[in-house]
Amino acid sequence: MAYLAALLGFVHWLSCFGAAINSPLPHIPLVGKSYNSTCLILLAIVRGKTHSGPVWARRSDNDENKVVVTDTGTGGTAIELVHLFYDEWPTGIAVSSTGRKFANYPGGLDYNDTNTGNNGKYTVAELVTNATESAYPSLEMNSPPGGAINYTTNPPTAAGYADYLIGVQSVVIDSADRLWIVDTGRVLNENGTLMLASYGGPKLVGVDLTTDKVFQTIVFPQTVAFPDSYLNDVRFDLRPNVTASGQGIAYLTDSSVEGRTGLVVVDLGTGESWRHLDYTTYVQADRQFVAYVWGKQLYANSPGNPFGYITFGVDGIAISANGEDLFFGGVGTRYMYSIPTSYLRDNSVNSDALAQGAVVTRTQKGVADGFETDTNNFIYHGNMEQEAISFFNPANGTDQIFVRDPRINWVDTMSVATDGYLYFTVNQLCFGPLMYPGTDTRQRPFAMFRAKLPNNGTKIGVNGTTV
Ligand SMILES: *[C@@H]1O[C@H](CO)[C@@H](O)[C@H](O)[C@H]1NC(C)=O
Ligand SMILES: *[C@@H]1O[C@H](CO)[C@@H](O)[C@H](O)[C@H]1NC(C)=O
Ligand SMILES: *[C@@H]1O[C@H](CO)[C@@H](O)[C@H](O)[C@H]1NC(C)=O
Ligand SMILES: *[C@@H]1O[C@H](CO)[C@@H](O)[C@H](O)[C@H]1NC(C)=O
Ligand SMILES: *[C@@H]1O[C@H](CO)[C@@H](O)[C@H](O)[C@H]1NC(C)=O
Ligand SMILES: *[C@@H]1O[C@H](CO)[C@@H](O)[C@H](O)[C@H]1NC(C)=O
Ligand SMILES: *[C@@H]1O[C@H](CO)[C@@H](O)[C@H](O)[C@H]1NC(C)=O
Ligand SMILES: *[C@@H]1O[C@H](CO)[C@@H](O)[C@H](O)[C@H]1NC(C)=O
Ligand SMILES: *[C@@H]1O[C@H](CO)[C@@H](O)[C@H](O)[C@H]1NC(C)=O
Repeated sequence: MAYLAALLGFVHWLSCFGAAINSPLPHIPLVGKSYNSTCLILLAIVRGKTHSGPVWARRSDNDENKVVVTDTGTGGTAIELVHLFYDEWPTGIAVSSTGRKFANYPGGLDYNDTNTGNNGKYTVAELVTNATESAYPSLEMNSPPGGAINYTTNPPTAAGYADYLIGVQSVVIDSADRLWIVDTGRVLNENGTLMLASYGGPKLVGVDLTTDKVFQTIVFPQTVAFPDSYLNDVRFDLRPNVTASGQGIAYLTDSSVEGRTGLVVVDLGTGESWRHLDYTTYVQADRQFVAYVWGKQLYANSPGNPFGYITFGVDGIAISANGEDLFFGGVGTRYMYSIPTSYLRDNSVNSDALAQGAVVTRTQKGVADGFETDTNNFIYHGNMEQEAISFFNPANGTDQIFVRDPRINWVDTMSVATDGYLYFTVNQLCFGPLMYPGTDTRQRPFAMFRAKLPNNGTKIGVNGTTV
């Protein structure tokens, strides 16, 4: 009996060894077989693996050795690397009709971007080569005297210069090919504390790209951009008939982590501005929101405090191709909303009640930062948990993957250009000090990619037509 058992064991061992040395293994060598763990370790050793886990489910396996299907991590349109950021940490990107590229670097999210008065940090730059950048529109405008923090107030506050850039969160090129700079007026200090804004800091600055000179500065009153507001992103509608002044209108998001999030509307002709949807769930993060990027759970880091949830409010913003709907959504929520823009332009006595009643929940979008639109009227947005960018198609109510690539982590801002590409930054925000436990594991360079738009899509022109 003992002899028979030994013989059967030897036969099993032989078949096991046979499977192990059969290289390359047949596509599904283990199905229907009952190899024991010793046998599987032998398989692993013969196949050059030293780990003790299941050998057939490793993502690193060669395709020919795969037994259980494995995610390729890719999909949709291919992405192309355009720029590598070796210096400061970027968020926004804008691409002009002639291919000039601009980025911004917010001291409000990374102290290492904060200008101290003598560290030469810029908050807006033009991308000079594919790996270098230069302060824009001038080094001077990026150099507030004494730095971006005013230490003569108690406690210190962000400096209140209207003629200098403090902490820029977004750069956007409108349909008339002009660059607009969104200055939050806020920066972090060396302790990671976000300084309150002073009047003059939060502003919208227009730069003429033919002269590289500022042609308009709209400073927000403190009743519109509160000291603890965080103006995040902006979109423009330059149709002459949307305002009395005929100069068009801008819509901004206020993503303040301190809480009073909302949408800000600006008449570009009069400079008048007002808010809508403050305190509503549409512009806030969800309770106990947890996101995941690259398999890592994301909680907010709050130095000296217990970890918190991500409370970034409304952030991404995009206007439909015909200018009639504004799409928006927060980082800390998976919903995308829209509102007819006419409700936002209205600032009369009933206007906020009417605006709140006009918001439509369009879709779940995943976790996104910036949004963008093209002439297809697709609403592009990050889908970071899927290492992807997706788009919502208002015409059929669906959200789908546009690009998917393992190089994608935190998709920050996007810019559709007249060359028919969607440009976007991938900046590892999720691996930086803003996330618990606050260890900075970001690795330079940060990246900008682009992807060809579907159906020859391109940038939307002044009247909703192609530029
Ligand atoms: C696994 O199979 C081998 C080869 O048949 C045999 O020698 C060994 O005793 C088995 N191990 C266990 C734990 O069953
Ligand atoms: C940048 O340009 C250099 C020189 O032309 C080239 O070798 C490199 O691949 C480019 N890098 C990117 C990210 O495009
Ligand atoms: C700060 O930024 C510079 C580039 O501007 C970089 O070389 C340096 O490593 C950064 N320091 C930290 C602590 O991230
Ligand atoms: C700094 O604070 C002082 C004291 O409140 C004030 O007088 C000064 O205008 C501030 N400067 C800037 C640039 O904000
Ligand atoms: C930063 O923290 C240190 C240590 O707690 C403190 O001494 C210093 O005053 C803080 N600096 C500012 C600008 O708040
Ligand atoms: C503005 O004019 C366009 C045509 O150019 C029209 O489609 C749109 O409805 C008008 N919008 C308003 C608010 O009047
Ligand atoms: C919705 O529209 C997109 C873009 O045209 C298309 O790819 C997708 O198949 C459509 N989905 C459905 C369910 O109609
Ligand atoms: C895109 O444009 C090219 C060149 O004008 C044309 O050949 C092609 O058919 C267009 N594709 C689509 C999907 O419209
Ligand atoms: C946009 O349409 C208006 C009429 O609504 C017209 O006056 C204006 O010239 C058009 N602008 C462009 C750039 O097409």
